[in-house]
Amino acid sequence: MKAKKELNVGMIGYGFMARTHSNAYRKVGNFFDLEYKPVLKSVCGLVEAEAEAFADRWGYESFTTDWRKVVERKDIDIIEVCVPNNYHAEIAIAAAKAGKMVICEKPLALNGPQALTMVEAVEAAGVPNLASFNYRRIPAVTMAKQLIDQGRLGKIFHYRSNFLQDWTISTEVPQGGMGTWRLDAKAAGSGVTGDLLAHCIDLALWQNGPITGVNAMTETFVKERKSVESGKMEPVGIDDACTFFCRFGNGSMGNFESTRYARGHKALFTFEINGEKASIRWDLHDLHRLQYFDHRDEGILRGWRSIHVSDGDQPYMKHWWVPGLAIGYEHSFVHQIADFLEGLATGKPVGPTFRDALATQYVCDAVLASAASGQWISPNV
Ligand SMILES: NC(=O)c1ccc[n+]([C@@H]2O[C@H](COP(=O)([O-])OP(=O)(O)OC[C@H]3O[C@@H](n4cnc5c(N)ncnc54)[C@H](O)[C@@H]3O)[C@@H](O)[C@H]2O)c1
Repeated sequence: MKAKKELNVGMIGYGFMARTHSNAYRKVGNFFDLEYKPVLKSVCGLVEAEAEAFADRWGYESFTTDWRKVVERKDIDIIEVCVPNNYHAEIAIAAAKAGKMVICEKPLALNGPQALTMVEAVEAAGVPNLASFNYRRIPAVTMAKQLIDQGRLGKIFHYRSNFLQDWTISTEVPQGGMGTWRLDAKAAGSGVTGDLLAHCIDLALWQNGPITGVNAMTETFVKERKSVESGKMEPVGIDDACTFFCRFGNGSMGNFESTRYARGHKALFTFEINGEKASIRWDLHDLHRLQYFDHRDEGILRGWRSIHVSDGDQPYMKHWWVPGLAIGYEHSFVHQIADFLEGLATGKPVGPTFRDALATQYVCDAVLASAASGQWISPNV
């Protein structure tokens, strides 16, 4: 058997995303035939004992509380940026300058201009890079993209997408600190726009092409929250909810909504695309299924099909169990690493690259600018 090339991983962060990415590195070689073999070298996070416990649990060889030490290590090939948004640029740029490959969690940065500096850094260094918009790699979502690219929907008229949650309705939820940095504009950049709509926008740009103009409305329902850092009540700077409509370059219309105030919804991420010939619909709560309606079906049998995307000829599924058996959320991260490593072996970069993620960031910026001004805004390109 051919010896595998080792790829040494430095993981920055040991929270939610660091778990999904570490899990992916541990599993990928068991299910995909790859030239590369990831080696979990070092993990970094704020609290030493927690970094040590994470290293122990996931099999990292070492741990630290100083991300610069990981970036400076000669024996690390790839830096994983799995920390709050306000640290993405600094870490990713330092990693690129040190010649490391970089995988960065979404949103790429706090805003478009900052994201551009990250794109420039990875492109100047010529290092492989990927933004972790993992939903692209849920098999049913990947299949939706394939159906669109095959022209099965025909001319597209409508793209609509939602990402609904309900976890910040209580006024007692604080802002800032470890668990609630997403409510602090300094750490997160924005609220639901960068956190949740960024996922919807990434899929929309990927599946339906560029957005040429947006018109948005945001609301911050709870105006003041206790700051974990100062212990005092402070104004809330993030958008709690955002609705926007838009035009795509292909002539279709878009309709997007995200909120953390939709009581009863924990992570209702959906999209529906209506074309001249067919429509598709997907829902994260039933992530294996793609709903498909084809107007060309025989009239009396015409209706929505619920396709269980689990067969060997459907995206990614031949790598898993047998037809009909489901996989889940975490597998999107395994697919992400598998594709990235495959791209290294073939020299064909996989997306979304930092440059792809910059386009999403520009749409987020346009959405926030439109909400602030009440005007239509064309995203930067
Ligand atoms: N792809 C997705 O669906 C998805 C889902 C959740 C989060 N995210 C993104 O992933 C990133 C991390 O989110 P999370 O939910 O894992 O956060 P988290 O709060 O669970 O973990 C954050 C980690 O960052 C570490 N950290 C913070 N500041 C640091 C510093 N200065 N140096 C080193 N480590 C530091 C903390 O110790 C912690 O381990 C964010 O950008 C977020 O938007 C993406």
